[in-house]
Amino acid sequence: MKLISERTARINTENAFKVGPYIAALEEAGNTVIKCNLGEPDFPLAAHIRDEVKRQLDLDNVHYTNPQGVPSLRKAVAKYIGEARGLDYSPEQVVVFPGGKPPIGMCQQTYTNPGDEIIYPSPGFPIYESFIRYVGAVPVPLHLREEIGFSFTGADLEKLITPKTKLIYMNFPSNPTGGVASRQQLEEIADVILRTCDENVRIYSDEIYENILFDGAEHYSIASIPGMKDKTLIATGASKSYSWTGGRIGWVVFPTIEEAKLFTNLNINYFSCIPPYNQEGATLAIEAPESKHSIAEMNAAFERRRDFVVDALNAMPGVTCQKPSGAFYVFPNIAGVVENLGIAEAYAGLPDDVKRTTSPSTLFQMFLLWEYCVATMDRKSFGQIGAENMHFLRLSIATGMDDLKIGMERMAGAVNDKAGFDRFIEAGEHFS
Ligand SMILES: Cc1ncc(COP(=O)(O)O)c(C=O)c1O
Repeated sequence: MKLISERTARINTENAFKVGPYIAALEEAGNTVIKCNLGEPDFPLAAHIRDEVKRQLDLDNVHYTNPQGVPSLRKAVAKYIGEARGLDYSPEQVVVFPGGKPPIGMCQQTYTNPGDEIIYPSPGFPIYESFIRYVGAVPVPLHLREEIGFSFTGADLEKLITPKTKLIYMNFPSNPTGGVASRQQLEEIADVILRTCDENVRIYSDEIYENILFDGAEHYSIASIPGMKDKTLIATGASKSYSWTGGRIGWVVFPTIEEAKLFTNLNINYFSCIPPYNQEGATLAIEAPESKHSIAEMNAAFERRRDFVVDALNAMPGVTCQKPSGAFYVFPNIAGVVENLGIAEAYAGLPDDVKRTTSPSTLFQMFLLWEYCVATMDRKSFGQIGAENMHFLRLSIATGMDDLKIGMERMAGAVNDKAGFDRFIEAGEHFS
Protein backbone atom coordinates (compact mmCIF):
# COMPACT_ATOMS: atom_id res chain seq x y z
CA MET A 1 0.00 0.00 0.00
CA LYS A 2 1.39 3.44 -0.94
CA LEU A 3 1.07 6.39 1.41
CA ILE A 4 0.48 8.98 -1.33
CA SER A 5 -2.12 8.78 -4.09
CA GLU A 6 -1.03 8.54 -7.73
CA ARG A 7 -2.95 11.74 -8.43
CA THR A 8 -0.89 13.67 -5.90
CA ALA A 9 2.34 12.48 -7.48
CA ARG A 10 1.18 14.06 -10.75
CA ILE A 11 0.62 17.63 -9.58
CA ASN A 12 3.35 20.14 -10.34
CA THR A 13 4.05 23.51 -8.70
CA GLU A 14 4.74 27.23 -9.15
CA ASN A 15 8.51 27.65 -9.07
CA ALA A 16 8.28 31.33 -8.14
CA PHE A 17 7.70 30.07 -4.60
CA LYS A 18 10.61 27.61 -4.87
CA VAL A 19 13.23 30.30 -5.53
CA GLY A 20 12.42 32.09 -2.23
CA PRO A 21 14.50 29.78 0.03
CA TYR A 22 17.50 30.04 -2.37
CA ILE A 23 17.33 33.84 -2.11
CA ALA A 24 17.03 33.58 1.67
CA ALA A 25 20.16 31.36 1.78
CA LEU A 26 22.12 33.85 -0.33
CA GLU A 27 20.98 36.75 1.82
CA GLU A 28 21.83 34.93 5.03
CA ALA A 29 25.33 34.50 3.63
CA GLY A 30 25.55 38.32 3.35
CA ASN A 31 24.67 38.84 -0.34
CA THR A 32 22.27 41.40 -1.74
CA VAL A 33 19.97 39.68 -4.19
CA ILE A 34 18.19 41.64 -6.93
CA LYS A 35 14.73 40.13 -7.06
CA CYS A 36 13.43 40.01 -10.60
CA ASN A 37 11.55 36.81 -9.84
CA LEU A 38 8.51 38.20 -8.08
CA GLY A 39 5.03 38.14 -9.57
CA GLU A 40 3.67 40.90 -7.39
CA PRO A 41 3.66 44.67 -7.68
CA ASP A 42 6.18 46.34 -5.36
CA PHE A 43 3.81 49.10 -4.26
CA PRO A 44 2.04 49.43 -0.92
CA LEU A 45 -1.69 48.83 -0.74
CA ALA A 46 -3.31 52.24 -1.39
CA ALA A 47 -4.32 54.08 1.78
CA HIS A 48 -8.03 54.26 0.95
CA ILE A 49 -8.24 50.46 0.62
CA ARG A 50 -6.13 49.83 3.73
CA ASP A 51 -8.34 52.20 5.75
CA GLU A 52 -11.48 50.40 4.63
CA VAL A 53 -10.07 47.01 5.70
CA LYS A 54 -9.17 48.50 9.11
CA ARG A 55 -12.64 50.02 9.42
CA GLN A 56 -14.22 46.65 8.67
CA LEU A 57 -12.08 44.98 11.34
CA ASP A 58 -13.18 47.64 13.82
CA LEU A 59 -16.79 46.82 12.89
CA ASP A 60 -16.02 43.19 13.87
CA ASN A 61 -16.72 42.07 10.31
CA VAL A 62 -14.66 38.93 10.91
CA HIS A 63 -17.21 36.11 10.91
CA TYR A 64 -18.43 33.48 8.45
CA THR A 65 -20.03 35.06 5.46
CA ASN A 66 -21.72 34.20 2.14
CA PRO A 67 -19.69 31.41 0.46
CA GLN A 68 -20.33 32.91 -2.97
CA GLY A 69 -18.84 36.22 -1.86
CA VAL A 70 -20.39 39.18 -0.04
CA PRO A 71 -23.22 40.76 -2.09
CA SER A 72 -21.56 44.19 -2.18
CA LEU A 73 -18.43 42.80 -3.83
CA ARG A 74 -20.35 40.63 -6.30
CA LYS A 75 -22.45 43.63 -7.27
CA ALA A 76 -19.36 45.79 -7.79
CA VAL A 77 -17.64 43.05 -9.83
CA ALA A 78 -20.69 42.41 -12.05
CA LYS A 79 -20.96 46.14 -12.74
CA TYR A 80 -17.33 46.92 -13.55
CA ILE A 81 -16.62 43.71 -15.50
CA GLY A 82 -19.80 44.27 -17.52
CA GLU A 83 -19.26 47.99 -18.15
CA ALA A 84 -15.63 47.59 -19.17
CA ARG A 85 -16.55 44.89 -21.68
CA GLY A 86 -19.89 46.16 -22.95
CA LEU A 87 -21.70 43.18 -21.37
CA ASP A 88 -24.46 42.67 -18.86
CA TYR A 89 -23.84 40.46 -15.81
CA SER A 90 -25.81 39.79 -12.65
CA PRO A 91 -24.12 39.53 -9.21
CA GLU A 92 -25.48 35.96 -9.12
CA GLN A 93 -23.00 35.08 -11.90
CA VAL A 94 -20.04 36.18 -9.77
CA VAL A 95 -18.15 33.95 -7.32
CA VAL A 96 -15.37 35.22 -5.05
CA PHE A 97 -12.31 33.02 -4.41
CA PRO A 98 -9.18 33.30 -2.25
CA GLY A 99 -7.19 34.89 -5.08
CA GLY A 100 -7.11 34.41 -8.84
CA LYS A 101 -5.43 31.03 -8.54
CA PRO A 102 -7.97 28.62 -6.94
CA PRO A 103 -10.60 28.72 -9.73
CA ILE A 104 -7.95 27.54 -12.23
CA GLY A 105 -7.85 24.02 -10.79
CA MET A 106 -11.48 24.06 -9.67
CA CYS A 107 -12.51 24.61 -13.30
CA GLN A 108 -10.65 21.51 -14.37
CA GLN A 109 -12.40 19.52 -11.64
CA THR A 110 -15.78 20.92 -12.61
CA TYR A 111 -15.73 20.83 -16.39
CA THR A 112 -13.49 17.89 -17.35
CA ASN A 113 -13.54 14.12 -17.10
CA PRO A 114 -10.41 11.95 -17.36
CA GLY A 115 -9.28 11.89 -20.99
CA ASP A 116 -10.72 15.29 -21.89
CA GLU A 117 -8.25 17.68 -23.50
CA ILE A 118 -7.32 21.03 -22.03
CA ILE A 119 -5.61 23.66 -24.18
CA TYR A 120 -3.47 26.22 -22.36
CA PRO A 121 -0.83 28.80 -23.30
CA SER A 122 2.81 27.85 -23.07
CA PRO A 123 4.70 29.75 -21.80
CA GLY A 124 1.86 30.44 -19.39
CA PHE A 125 0.93 30.62 -15.74
CA PRO A 126 2.25 27.27 -14.45
CA ILE A 127 -0.88 26.29 -12.57
CA TYR A 128 -2.80 25.68 -15.83
CA GLU A 129 -0.45 22.81 -16.77
CA SER A 130 0.22 21.70 -13.20
CA PHE A 131 -3.36 20.67 -12.51
CA ILE A 132 -4.17 18.88 -15.76
CA ARG A 133 -2.60 15.51 -14.99
CA TYR A 134 -3.83 15.78 -11.40
CA VAL A 135 -7.42 15.68 -12.65
CA GLY A 136 -6.62 13.00 -15.26
CA ALA A 137 -7.14 15.26 -18.27
CA VAL A 138 -4.79 15.56 -21.24
CA PRO A 139 -2.53 18.64 -21.49
CA VAL A 140 -2.44 20.32 -24.90
CA PRO A 141 0.04 23.23 -24.84
CA LEU A 142 -0.63 26.09 -27.21
CA HIS A 143 2.82 27.52 -27.85
CA LEU A 144 2.80 31.31 -27.97
CA ARG A 145 4.74 32.74 -30.87
CA GLU A 146 7.51 35.20 -30.14
CA GLU A 147 7.29 36.68 -33.66
CA ILE A 148 3.70 37.82 -33.10
CA GLY A 149 4.29 39.40 -29.69
CA PHE A 150 3.85 36.14 -27.76
CA SER A 151 0.26 35.64 -28.81
CA PHE A 152 -1.36 33.06 -31.08
CA THR A 153 -3.64 33.10 -34.09
CA GLY A 154 -6.96 31.42 -34.78
CA ALA A 155 -5.12 29.00 -37.06
CA ASP A 156 -2.68 28.07 -34.24
CA LEU A 157 -5.62 27.23 -32.01
CA GLU A 158 -7.61 25.42 -34.69
CA LYS A 159 -4.80 22.89 -35.16
CA LEU A 160 -5.18 21.79 -31.55
CA ILE A 161 -8.95 21.52 -31.29
CA THR A 162 -10.38 17.98 -31.36
CA PRO A 163 -13.75 16.49 -30.36
CA LYS A 164 -12.16 15.91 -26.92
CA THR A 165 -11.30 19.57 -26.30
CA LYS A 166 -13.21 20.67 -23.20
CA LEU A 167 -11.50 23.68 -21.71
CA ILE A 168 -9.31 26.41 -23.24
CA TYR A 169 -7.25 28.81 -21.12
CA MET A 170 -6.35 32.24 -22.40
CA ASN A 171 -4.34 34.90 -20.59
CA PHE A 172 -3.91 38.40 -21.98
CA PRO A 173 -2.03 40.44 -20.82
CA SER A 174 0.13 37.40 -20.35
CA ASN A 175 2.23 36.04 -17.56
CA PRO A 176 5.12 35.44 -18.27
CA THR A 177 5.52 37.31 -21.57
CA GLY A 178 3.55 40.54 -21.16
CA GLY A 179 2.02 39.79 -24.57
CA VAL A 180 -1.40 41.16 -25.49
CA ALA A 181 -3.47 39.80 -28.39
CA SER A 182 -4.86 42.38 -30.76
CA ARG A 183 -8.60 42.78 -31.18
CA GLN A 184 -8.30 41.25 -34.63
CA GLN A 185 -6.46 38.21 -33.29
CA LEU A 186 -9.12 37.73 -30.61
CA GLU A 187 -11.81 37.92 -33.29
CA GLU A 188 -10.05 35.23 -35.31
CA ILE A 189 -9.63 33.07 -32.22
CA ALA A 190 -13.30 33.53 -31.31
CA ASP A 191 -14.31 32.63 -34.85
CA VAL A 192 -12.42 29.33 -34.58
CA ILE A 193 -14.01 28.55 -31.21
CA LEU A 194 -17.51 29.37 -32.42
CA ARG A 195 -17.05 27.32 -35.59
CA THR A 196 -15.30 24.25 -34.22
CA CYS A 197 -16.06 23.76 -30.51
CA ASP A 198 -18.98 21.97 -28.92
CA GLU A 199 -21.36 24.29 -27.05
CA ASN A 200 -20.16 22.78 -23.75
CA VAL A 201 -16.55 23.82 -24.25
CA ARG A 202 -15.58 26.59 -21.82
CA ILE A 203 -13.04 29.37 -22.29
CA TYR A 204 -11.23 30.43 -19.14
CA SER A 205 -10.13 33.97 -19.85
CA ASP A 206 -7.60 34.84 -17.15
CA GLU A 207 -7.64 38.64 -17.23
CA ILE A 208 -5.90 39.25 -13.92
CA TYR A 209 -3.57 41.81 -15.57
CA GLU A 210 -6.53 43.65 -17.16
CA ASN A 211 -5.47 46.98 -15.62
CA ILE A 212 -1.75 46.76 -16.32
CA LEU A 213 -1.35 47.97 -19.89
CA PHE A 214 1.17 50.29 -21.52
CA ASP A 215 1.36 52.86 -24.29
CA GLY A 216 -2.27 53.90 -23.77
CA ALA A 217 -3.65 50.46 -24.69
CA GLU A 218 -7.11 49.45 -23.46
CA HIS A 219 -8.07 46.01 -22.26
CA TYR A 220 -10.23 43.98 -24.59
CA SER A 221 -11.80 40.66 -23.57
CA ILE A 222 -12.67 37.75 -25.83
CA ALA A 223 -16.00 37.65 -23.96
CA SER A 224 -16.95 40.92 -25.69
CA ILE A 225 -17.05 39.25 -29.11
CA PRO A 226 -20.61 38.32 -30.10
CA GLY A 227 -21.35 34.69 -29.22
CA MET A 228 -18.47 34.36 -26.72
CA LYS A 229 -20.08 35.61 -23.48
CA ASP A 230 -22.07 32.36 -23.07
CA LYS A 231 -18.90 30.24 -23.17
CA THR A 232 -16.39 32.42 -21.35
CA LEU A 233 -15.44 32.62 -17.70
CA ILE A 234 -13.75 35.93 -16.91
CA ALA A 235 -11.29 35.56 -14.05
CA THR A 236 -9.58 38.51 -12.38
CA GLY A 237 -8.99 39.79 -8.86
CA ALA A 238 -7.43 42.27 -6.49
CA SER A 239 -3.86 40.90 -6.35
CA LYS A 240 -2.27 42.71 -9.26
CA SER A 241 -4.52 45.73 -9.91
CA TYR A 242 -4.34 46.92 -6.30
CA SER A 243 -0.95 45.46 -5.34
CA TRP A 244 -2.70 43.29 -2.79
CA THR A 245 -1.45 39.72 -3.27
CA GLY A 246 -1.78 38.95 0.45
CA GLY A 247 -5.45 39.95 0.51
CA ARG A 248 -6.30 36.72 -1.34
CA ILE A 249 -9.29 38.10 -3.20
CA GLY A 250 -10.12 36.96 -6.73
CA TRP A 251 -13.36 36.54 -8.66
CA VAL A 252 -14.83 34.80 -11.66
CA VAL A 253 -17.83 35.87 -13.69
CA PHE A 254 -19.54 32.74 -15.00
CA PRO A 255 -21.59 32.31 -18.18
CA THR A 256 -24.58 31.06 -16.15
CA ILE A 257 -25.93 31.31 -12.60
CA GLU A 258 -26.06 27.48 -12.45
CA GLU A 259 -22.31 27.27 -12.98
CA ALA A 260 -21.73 29.95 -10.34
CA LYS A 261 -23.74 27.81 -7.92
CA LEU A 262 -21.57 24.75 -8.59
CA PHE A 263 -18.47 26.73 -7.74
CA THR A 264 -20.13 28.20 -4.65
CA ASN A 265 -20.66 24.63 -3.48
CA LEU A 266 -16.98 23.86 -4.11
CA ASN A 267 -16.14 26.91 -1.99
CA ILE A 268 -18.32 25.50 0.79
CA ASN A 269 -16.50 22.18 0.54
CA TYR A 270 -13.01 23.69 0.47
CA PHE A 271 -12.93 26.81 2.63
CA SER A 272 -16.49 27.97 3.43
CA CYS A 273 -15.93 31.64 2.64
CA ILE A 274 -13.34 34.40 2.22
CA PRO A 275 -12.50 36.96 4.95
CA PRO A 276 -15.35 39.49 4.78
CA TYR A 277 -13.21 42.48 5.82
CA ASN A 278 -10.96 41.97 2.78
CA GLN A 279 -13.97 41.51 0.51
CA GLU A 280 -15.33 44.88 1.66
CA GLY A 281 -11.89 46.37 1.04
CA ALA A 282 -12.00 44.95 -2.50
CA THR A 283 -15.48 46.43 -3.04
CA LEU A 284 -14.14 49.84 -2.15
CA ALA A 285 -11.06 49.27 -4.32
CA ILE A 286 -13.29 48.64 -7.34
CA GLU A 287 -15.65 51.53 -6.65
CA ALA A 288 -13.35 54.31 -5.39
CA PRO A 289 -12.18 56.86 -7.97
CA GLU A 290 -8.81 57.06 -6.11
CA SER A 291 -8.00 53.52 -7.30
CA LYS A 292 -7.71 54.78 -10.89
CA HIS A 293 -4.92 57.13 -9.73
CA SER A 294 -3.01 54.43 -7.87
CA ILE A 295 -3.24 52.11 -10.89
CA ALA A 296 -2.10 54.90 -13.24
CA GLU A 297 0.91 55.71 -11.01
CA MET A 298 1.88 52.06 -10.84
CA ASN A 299 1.58 51.63 -14.60
CA ALA A 300 3.68 54.73 -15.28
CA ALA A 301 6.45 53.27 -13.09
CA PHE A 302 6.19 49.86 -14.80
CA GLU A 303 6.36 51.52 -18.21
CA ARG A 304 9.53 53.47 -17.33
CA ARG A 305 11.14 50.31 -15.96
CA ARG A 306 10.06 48.26 -18.99
CA ASP A 307 11.70 50.73 -21.36
CA PHE A 308 14.93 50.72 -19.35
CA VAL A 309 15.11 46.93 -18.92
CA VAL A 310 14.22 46.08 -22.53
CA ASP A 311 16.95 48.43 -23.82
CA ALA A 312 19.48 47.06 -21.32
CA LEU A 313 18.68 43.46 -22.28
CA ASN A 314 18.88 44.14 -26.01
CA ALA A 315 22.33 45.64 -25.50
CA MET A 316 23.63 42.34 -24.08
CA PRO A 317 25.30 39.91 -26.50
CA GLY A 318 23.09 36.87 -27.14
CA VAL A 319 19.91 38.44 -25.72
CA THR A 320 16.91 39.74 -27.65
CA CYS A 321 13.88 41.11 -25.89
CA GLN A 322 10.52 42.30 -27.12
CA LYS A 323 8.73 45.24 -25.58
CA PRO A 324 5.72 43.86 -23.70
CA SER A 325 2.39 45.67 -23.93
CA GLY A 326 1.11 44.73 -20.48
CA ALA A 327 1.60 42.93 -17.14
CA PHE A 328 4.93 43.55 -15.38
CA TYR A 329 7.26 41.01 -16.94
CA VAL A 330 9.78 40.94 -19.75
CA PHE A 331 10.63 37.67 -21.45
CA PRO A 332 14.03 37.83 -23.16
CA ASN A 333 15.17 35.19 -25.61
CA ILE A 334 18.56 33.96 -24.37
CA ALA A 335 19.32 31.47 -27.16
CA GLY A 336 22.46 33.46 -28.02
CA VAL A 337 23.70 33.28 -24.42
CA VAL A 338 23.07 29.53 -24.38
CA GLU A 339 25.32 29.34 -27.44
CA ASN A 340 27.99 31.83 -26.32
CA LEU A 341 28.49 30.25 -22.89
CA GLY A 342 28.30 26.66 -24.15
CA ILE A 343 25.24 26.00 -21.97
CA ALA A 344 23.64 23.41 -24.27
CA GLU A 345 26.85 21.35 -24.23
CA ALA A 346 27.11 21.64 -20.45
CA TYR A 347 23.48 20.49 -20.18
CA ALA A 348 24.07 17.57 -22.57
CA GLY A 349 26.99 16.42 -20.38
CA LEU A 350 24.91 16.17 -17.20
CA PRO A 351 23.75 12.80 -15.84
CA ASP A 352 20.21 11.86 -16.94
CA ASP A 353 18.66 12.20 -13.49
CA VAL A 354 20.07 15.75 -13.14
CA LYS A 355 19.03 16.63 -16.70
CA ARG A 356 15.42 15.80 -15.89
CA THR A 357 15.39 18.46 -13.16
CA THR A 358 16.95 21.26 -15.19
CA SER A 359 17.26 22.76 -18.71
CA PRO A 360 19.69 25.13 -20.47
CA SER A 361 17.69 28.19 -19.44
CA THR A 362 17.47 26.82 -15.87
CA LEU A 363 21.27 26.48 -15.79
CA PHE A 364 21.66 30.12 -16.81
CA GLN A 365 18.95 31.18 -14.33
CA MET A 366 20.83 29.35 -11.55
CA PHE A 367 24.22 30.71 -12.62
CA LEU A 368 22.75 34.22 -12.56
CA LEU A 369 21.26 33.63 -9.13
CA TRP A 370 24.08 31.86 -7.32
CA GLU A 371 27.06 33.66 -8.91
CA TYR A 372 25.60 37.11 -9.72
CA CYS A 373 22.77 37.33 -7.17
CA VAL A 374 20.03 38.19 -9.67
CA ALA A 375 16.83 36.17 -9.24
CA THR A 376 14.84 35.45 -12.40
CA MET A 377 12.61 32.61 -13.61
CA ASP A 378 13.45 30.07 -16.33
CA ARG A 379 11.33 29.07 -19.34
CA LYS A 380 10.57 25.67 -17.81
CA SER A 381 8.71 27.31 -14.95
CA PHE A 382 5.96 28.32 -17.38
CA GLY A 383 5.00 25.01 -18.97
CA GLN A 384 7.28 22.07 -19.59
CA ILE A 385 5.65 20.07 -22.37
CA GLY A 386 7.32 20.73 -25.72
CA ALA A 387 9.52 23.51 -24.31
CA GLU A 388 12.82 21.58 -24.28
CA ASN A 389 14.68 23.73 -26.77
CA MET A 390 13.22 27.06 -25.86
CA HIS A 391 15.65 29.37 -24.15
CA PHE A 392 14.01 32.25 -22.33
CA LEU A 393 13.97 33.92 -18.93
CA ARG A 394 11.23 35.86 -17.21
CA LEU A 395 12.26 39.03 -15.42
CA SER A 396 9.76 40.82 -13.28
CA ILE A 397 9.91 44.61 -13.41
CA ALA A 398 8.04 44.85 -10.13
CA THR A 399 11.36 45.91 -8.63
CA GLY A 400 12.56 49.48 -8.06
CA MET A 401 14.59 51.24 -10.77
CA ASP A 402 17.77 51.37 -8.62
CA ASP A 403 17.68 47.61 -8.16
CA LEU A 404 16.89 47.05 -11.82
CA LYS A 405 19.96 49.09 -12.80
CA ILE A 406 22.17 46.92 -10.58
CA GLY A 407 20.42 43.78 -11.86
CA MET A 408 21.07 44.70 -15.48
CA GLU A 409 24.75 45.48 -14.76
CA ARG A 410 25.16 42.12 -13.08
CA MET A 411 23.39 40.26 -15.88
CA ALA A 412 25.55 42.03 -18.48
CA GLY A 413 28.53 40.57 -16.58
CA ALA A 414 27.01 37.08 -16.47
CA VAL A 415 26.27 36.82 -20.20
CA ASN A 416 29.97 37.47 -20.92
CA ASP A 417 31.38 35.20 -18.21
CA LYS A 418 32.16 31.90 -19.97
CA ALA A 419 34.92 31.05 -17.47
CA GLY A 420 32.59 31.71 -14.54
CA PHE A 421 29.88 29.53 -16.09
CA ASP A 422 32.38 26.70 -16.63
CA ARG A 423 33.42 26.93 -12.96
CA PHE A 424 29.75 26.90 -11.91
CA ILE A 425 29.19 23.68 -13.88
CA GLU A 426 32.38 22.10 -12.51
CA ALA A 427 31.28 22.86 -8.95
CA GLY A 428 28.29 20.59 -9.69
CA GLU A 429 25.78 22.33 -7.41
CA HIS A 430 22.55 24.35 -7.69
CA PHE A 431 21.48 23.13 -11.14
CA SER A 432 17.75 23.51 -10.45
C1 LIG B 1 -1.97 34.71 -15.01
C2 LIG B 1 -2.20 34.61 -13.55
N1 LIG B 1 -3.34 34.10 -13.11
C3 LIG B 1 -3.60 33.98 -11.79
C4 LIG B 1 -2.67 34.38 -10.86
C5 LIG B 1 -2.97 34.17 -9.41
O1 LIG B 1 -3.23 35.33 -8.74
P1 LIG B 1 -3.55 35.36 -7.18
O2 LIG B 1 -2.30 35.74 -6.49
O3 LIG B 1 -4.64 36.36 -7.05
O4 LIG B 1 -4.01 33.99 -6.76
C6 LIG B 1 -1.44 34.91 -11.27
C7 LIG B 1 -0.40 35.29 -10.30
O5 LIG B 1 0.75 35.45 -10.59
C8 LIG B 1 -1.21 35.03 -12.65
O6 LIG B 1 -0.05 35.53 -13.12
